[in-house]
Amino acid sequence: MSDRLKELRRRHAVAEAGGGDQRRARQHQEGKLSARERIDLLLDEGTFEEMDKLVRHRCNDFGMQEQVIDGDGFVTGYGLIHARPAYVFAQDFTVFGGSLSEANAKKIVKIMDMALKTGAPVIGLNDSGGARIQEGVVSLGGYADIFLRNTLSSGVVPQISAIMGPCAGGAVYSPALTDFIFMVDKTSYMFVTGPDVIKTVTHEDVTKETLGGATTHNSTSGVAHFIAHDDADCLRMVRELLSYIPQNNRDDAPVYNSGDPATREDSALDSIVPDASNQPYDIKDVITRVVDQASFFEVQEHWARNIVVGFARMDGRSIGVVANQPAFLAGCLDIDPSSKGARFVRFCDAFNIPILTFEDVPGFLPGTAQEFGGIIRHGAKLLYAFSEATVPKITVITRKAYGGAYCVMGSKHLRTDVNLAWPSAEIAVMGAEGAVNIVYRRELAAAEDQDAVRRAKTEEFRDRFASPFVAAEHGFLDDVIEPRQTRPRVIRALRMLETKVDTMPRKKHGNMPL
Ligand code: HXC
Repeated sequence: MSDRLKELRRRHAVAEAGGGDQRRARQHQEGKLSARERIDLLLDEGTFEEMDKLVRHRCNDFGMQEQVIDGDGFVTGYGLIHARPAYVFAQDFTVFGGSLSEANAKKIVKIMDMALKTGAPVIGLNDSGGARIQEGVVSLGGYADIFLRNTLSSGVVPQISAIMGPCAGGAVYSPALTDFIFMVDKTSYMFVTGPDVIKTVTHEDVTKETLGGATTHNSTSGVAHFIAHDDADCLRMVRELLSYIPQNNRDDAPVYNSGDPATREDSALDSIVPDASNQPYDIKDVITRVVDQASFFEVQEHWARNIVVGFARMDGRSIGVVANQPAFLAGCLDIDPSSKGARFVRFCDAFNIPILTFEDVPGFLPGTAQEFGGIIRHGAKLLYAFSEATVPKITVITRKAYGGAYCVMGSKHLRTDVNLAWPSAEIAVMGAEGAVNIVYRRELAAAEDQDAVRRAKTEEFRDRFASPFVAAEHGFLDDVIEPRQTRPRVIRALRMLETKVDTMPRKKHGNMPL
């Protein structure tokens, strides 16, 4: 064997050993897999092509010249997921705590640039102590180089972040710029400033888990989109998500036929909406009965639960579902669901995924907390996102479509292509009771039997306005349908819309309310 070959083998072995057996054992003890084990689970078996395995850091300070590990702690390259190309980087916590150096930042930048040129997703497996302290500003520069690529790639190729260990300080902003963030329960955390700094500055006592654990970011802050039980579960979920989305903004999502007939009707839908207008039901029961069997993949399941968003398939093709949830806060729109819905709609629009909206919304949530919190600005995001979207758009009103929320949730006026309603739909400026109190205030004040007058007027109002028929008479609805027919009707509409082309006026970019 030539000396060169021996040298190559030695250096590959150094790269593969990473920080050594002891550190890897510690990683395993903490319930975490190593960077290479993670990549093996993420990619189709045997498809990983590693790049830059021989890259070394160039730091000569703090004794770093004595500690050189080939690959410099990040494993980067490409492979296949469901037989489609994907780029991946994995931070190896066993090498300098997975910290980001000038050299390994360049490795990430390289695959991000290639992903942009070849049109394939980038998946980052994050497990890092942040900027490599010994390198100072060149490490910070490495982060900024990545942030720029995250931004340039946004809306061109899907970017997915899995947080599988620490992710703190400015390092959080790369995942935050990507499309979806997965977190592993109990072993991952994200925060801009950690518990110690918080204690010093604000005197608050908080644990890492409470401050930035997977549960916090999946249910309180809305920073993360998915929570996984462990590393393997997380990587399985990333693969599942990718099955719904295209490789890039010029591609279509893959088709997976579930065998669920396009003509399937579901009589249970006819009675799913309770007779009493203020009684809740679970909109997920509607979604799962309409879409291809077992195809609903919910996004941000635990945050802003008054709106439900997620991917599904109909007729084997991917769609994005946006639905008000009457089972939570009566489906009212407030600040968080507005942001959640808007971001999801924009992802679907950027990546050619048709949007199916189910609407049952009594309006925006009243209260000082909402007004002071900027519900006007946040609600406008959802309006903007629906208006801007040029992908096929279909809306089904199942019950309430009141006030501004009628306009926002994919109304015909926002160039939605097909608008359908169930007979139970109530489309009005506001609920009948509220409307009567305003419109008939004087009559009510003068009446001897106020309750009787209120009841009669409410009934009259409900009959005239709180129904789908007036909207259908104006063409704001294309049809009022029997609920059981929702699936075949939506599938026929999606087929009709497959060749849809719509555009935006020429502009650099809009000024979306943020
Ligand atoms: C160099 C680092 C490192 C870092 C950890 N290590 N973080 N080396 N630069 N940023 C090394 C440790 O020295 C140790 O080396 C090994 O990684 C494992 O670290 P431990 O501390 O033993 O692990 P653990 O107890 O699990 O704690 C993990 C940790 C802690 C909480 C992440 O290491 C930590 O607080 N690290 C510093 C975090 C930080 O402040 N980073 C800078 C943030 S600012 P040995 O040889 O003992 O195994 C930032 C700016 C980004 O990132 C800016 C972007 C705009």
